[in-house]
Amino acid sequence: MKFIDTHCHLTDKKFSAEVAEIFERAKNAGVEKIINFGSTLQDSAEVVNFVEKFSGMFAGVGVHPEEVQDFADENFAVEKIFELAQKNKVVAIGEIGLDYHWEKSAEGKKIQQKIFIQQLEIARQLNLPVCVHERDAHGDALKILQTEGKNLRGVLHCFSGSLEMAREVWKLGWLIGIDGPLTFKNSAKLPEIVQVAPREMLLIETDAPYLAPVPHRGKRNEPAFVVEIAKKIAEIRGENLETVAEYTTKNAAFLYSRLAD
Ligand code: NI
Repeated sequence: MKFIDTHCHLTDKKFSAEVAEIFERAKNAGVEKIINFGSTLQDSAEVVNFVEKFSGMFAGVGVHPEEVQDFADENFAVEKIFELAQKNKVVAIGEIGLDYHWEKSAEGKKIQQKIFIQQLEIARQLNLPVCVHERDAHGDALKILQTEGKNLRGVLHCFSGSLEMAREVWKLGWLIGIDGPLTFKNSAKLPEIVQVAPREMLLIETDAPYLAPVPHRGKRNEPAFVVEIAKKIAEIRGENLETVAEYTTKNAAFLYSRLAD
């Protein structure tokens, strides 16, 4: 069985020197490809360098909505992401999006929206898929995808919306990313969404080092654990693990077409 961890952060300091071992454990678990996402300009540059060192590792570059200070000099930030996105092994723009969890001011939200849209434009120009981070901003994120996201392809990573929202996302041809929270007792609406999702709309991801799935909950997450999420999907949907591995891998390769390079 083969799996792809479609979203993690192995450049995080929590992994420091052990990355080779972590990657080895991932490969032993069947996880052959891993996409690492940047969240700041500096981090995106680091991710691009990092993936060069390992075959099977790929990168996404972008500025996370909580890191909007990187866009203080807009021209520089846009140019920098544009430049990084053309580097070797970059398969996506991300993670970008909206996060209103701590941002309560109308002005701050407007800035996030503007930066999100600017980075969607980079994806459009370079014909890259998009990995969207969205928290507590369901309505605005959907609106932007429906207007500015037209003709773009992408995924709502670590999906936390309602079934109604998932259906709107699927209508746009976008996928949803499923992470550790699916395995939690308090996983809320997620199991129902996973149960009814068309299989071509599901991606699996760890978001490591965060959100480790059961039975590793509370510990540092790593790409090998993506198999636990696939197991939970199989259980909820009444499918074999082999089947889930097959279609989630196919979905990842289809969305992130440069993974084949
Ligand atoms: Ni992430």
